[in-house]
Amino acid sequence: MVQTLAPIDRAKFAAARRAADMVEDGMKLGLGTGSTAAWLVRCLAERVRQEGLRLTCVPTSARTAALAREEGLKVVALDDAGWLDLTIDGADEFDADLVLIKGGGGALLQEKIVATASDRMMVITDATKEVKALGAFPLPVEVIPFGWQASRMLIEELLGSLDVMGTKASLRMNGTRPFMTDEGNHILDLALGRIGNPRQLSLALNQVPGVVENGLFIDICDAVIIGHADGRVILRDAIAGTEQEDRIHFEETDNIFREL
Ligand code: A5P
Repeated sequence: MVQTLAPIDRAKFAAARRAADMVEDGMKLGLGTGSTAAWLVRCLAERVRQEGLRLTCVPTSARTAALAREEGLKVVALDDAGWLDLTIDGADEFDADLVLIKGGGGALLQEKIVATASDRMMVITDATKEVKALGAFPLPVEVIPFGWQASRMLIEELLGSLDVMGTKASLRMNGTRPFMTDEGNHILDLALGRIGNPRQLSLALNQVPGVVENGLFIDICDAVIIGHADGRVILRDAIAGTEQEDRIHFEETDNIFREL
């Protein structure tokens, strides 16, 4: 089965598998959202089944919660878990300082809350998400529905005075209707091209009335695992200042692919 997966999915799986192997018995874990995080959920569930690992999991979206429950993981709300040991999540872009753009899946608010309520946050990704300068991926900004057009105008005006290349903010759609987040909010995707000063941009965006949160994750991510289609994985740890290469052997993990 694994041989029929697209190279990008093999890469995502390899990163997720490596991260799952680092999880320890008894941990309270934040589970990210997206296709890479979905591999993580499956890999964790396999370890729980095979090794009897005891995990308490806090999902970052309704869809991750549904998958985790389906896979038999113990799912609790963040307020019931308290503080978490580790959150593992995907990303849309990351740079050399492990600043991230997240929210391509629309879950940035819960993702940021869960990640910052954790001792450590680790990103799992394929190599295409690594960038020299952030901003090619449109930056998601969560806004409340009330007056969202006024918020959008204020954001576009603000962007004109900041170190970015573009200023257009588009309302994310789901078919013919505005996309709704799990909190019932909308997402504006900012076509910035290049973000010169992520910290300044993040602070400025969060000052705009109606903005709930933006998809820049600054000083939150501690480590990144970059997967490759051939099974190679690079673990870059910003805290330890180390980079380590390993290899995931796909054939050992056949169970994961059985139901796909
Ligand atoms: C979800 O809101 C996002 O932050 C995801 O983590 C991000 O879009 C990565 O998704 P994939 O793992 O599907 O690439």
